[in-house]
Amino acid sequence: MEIGGVLVSRQRELADYESLTKECRACPLRDGCNQVVFGEGNPEARLMLVGEGPGADEDRLGRPFVGAAGQLLNKILDAGRFPRHEVYICNVVKCRPPSNRLPLPNEVKACLPHLERQIELINPEIIICLGALATQVLVDPKARITRDRGKWVRKEGRLIMPTFHPAALLRDPSKKRPVWEDIQKVMAVYHEEWK
Ligand code: URA
Repeated sequence: MEIGGVLVSRQRELADYESLTKECRACPLRDGCNQVVFGEGNPEARLMLVGEGPGADEDRLGRPFVGAAGQLLNKILDAGRFPRHEVYICNVVKCRPPSNRLPLPNEVKACLPHLERQIELINPEIIICLGALATQVLVDPKARITRDRGKWVRKEGRLIMPTFHPAALLRDPSKKRPVWEDIQKVMAVYHEEWK
């Protein structure tokens, strides 16, 4: 909701921070990718989704979740009645790991201040962790996604819902049902409180 200059200043702060991240050389990933994929969406989103890291399509276009996993994420967002422009979407690491490998611990650590600042500026009520990495970073380093998905975690005043990564659903369609169950839990909170 726009209240005078508040939205404008938040937008500006986020844009200023994004510009800073474009200069980031805190880990070696930036040297091997085309561009920093900071994230996109509503600067005052109530719901934030955090993936793993940009893939080839994201690296080419500079936007998160625009490849095959992104197409599926769009369907999940539609099913949940979360318009993509209403939410905020980003990743744990902002630069593409080579050959789509998992980001290494030192890369995650180097990028963490960027994710933390994003969360602080956007200040979402709800965060959906897409996959194990986001869950381990935002909930518990020992988290296991098969065990811990679908369970709300309350942390620093926010509600966090871990679920499977859309890419995992592409590999294993039997994961669609549990993700839908997790999304329905988020819908219950998001749409109820929005009224
Ligand atoms: N997978 C991710 O984790 N993030 C993206 O942006 C795209 C695919």
